[in-house]
Amino acid sequence: MRISLEEAAERLKRGEVVAIPTETVYGLAADASNDQALQQIFTTKQRPADHPLIVHIGDISQVSDWAAAFPEVAVKLAEAFWPGALTLVLPAKNHVSRIVRGNEPTIALRVPNHPVALALLKLSGLSVAAPSANLFTQLSPTTAEHVEAGLGDAVPVLDGGACTVGIESTIVSVATDGQWQMLRPGMISEADIARVAGQPQHTRKASSSGVVEIQTPKAPGQHALHYSPRTPLLLFKDKAALIQEYEALTQVNLQCAALLIGEGNSPACTTIQLSNQPAEVAEQLYSTLHRLDALNVDRLLVELPPDTPPWAAVLDRLSRAGYK
Ligand code: TXA
Ligand code: MG
Repeated sequence: MRISLEEAAERLKRGEVVAIPTETVYGLAADASNDQALQQIFTTKQRPADHPLIVHIGDISQVSDWAAAFPEVAVKLAEAFWPGALTLVLPAKNHVSRIVRGNEPTIALRVPNHPVALALLKLSGLSVAAPSANLFTQLSPTTAEHVEAGLGDAVPVLDGGACTVGIESTIVSVATDGQWQMLRPGMISEADIARVAGQPQHTRKASSSGVVEIQTPKAPGQHALHYSPRTPLLLFKDKAALIQEYEALTQVNLQCAALLIGEGNSPACTTIQLSNQPAEVAEQLYSTLHRLDALNVDRLLVELPPDTPPWAAVLDRLSRAGYK
């Protein structure tokens, strides 16, 4: 069911969940200060309770409603990238619900860069918690149709068109001492963050033996199996390897469809070819996977982009979508 901006605001104020557009992916929104409303997000998504939610706020002045500290580095990042596809994880104020922060001592905040989302935050006067509007582990939605296909008619949808960034926000945590860590890659790259915040210092730590250990920080709820289509998805480093596997699968009568990055040879099955530009591929990634998934073939064959920094976020999502 599609609803208007006014109805979405009314429903949020009544403590109901509503699917809303953002520039990254559609979110399943609820009043972030209402525990019963928050609980419905988890029920609707079938999401484990220890997965914290991102709180969407209308502007930077609202950070102090949720965060106990707003270190200078985080202020600079917010000023540089908000509204936009950056989520800041900051120390939480004591009153912040344990449900929204998944029992973490921190809170994740973002000002979305979407006119409809910003209008809704303003009209409702609320801050809204919103994870991606899909069932737990499934493909994220980038259109109202994707939300309806994934969650069914029970969830009302505020349609704001197709998402232009196309994959989830970059998540950066900032400690009170200003140290920062990237917890999830997104289209705002680690280099973009470092240009504003300086280099991160505590991702590399000298152990007692003097050996430098690389710590891989993780955001809670970043499951290995995530963002998955229903069709098993096989990943390939290049087109030649993909075509070879396609031929082997055809021999045993398995139906395939393929996703290629950039020009070159393609297999003789339904194939979608995306450009070799990271931002364009990100924008179309989930909608392409939704389309391929709807073909109901036996295997999706996907060419991976190069393992270089501009592709980090796309590579992360594809690796997680891969068949385990
Ligand atoms: O682009 C996005 O971020 C989208 C749109 C709707 O804003 N939202 C989104 O939410 O991707 P979700 O729930 O799919 O991912 C939120 C992730 C959690 O899984 C967790 O990894 C991280 O954000 N997160 C949230 N709160 C956190 C916290 N307090 N500490 C560390 N990580 C946190
Ligand atoms: Mg998600």
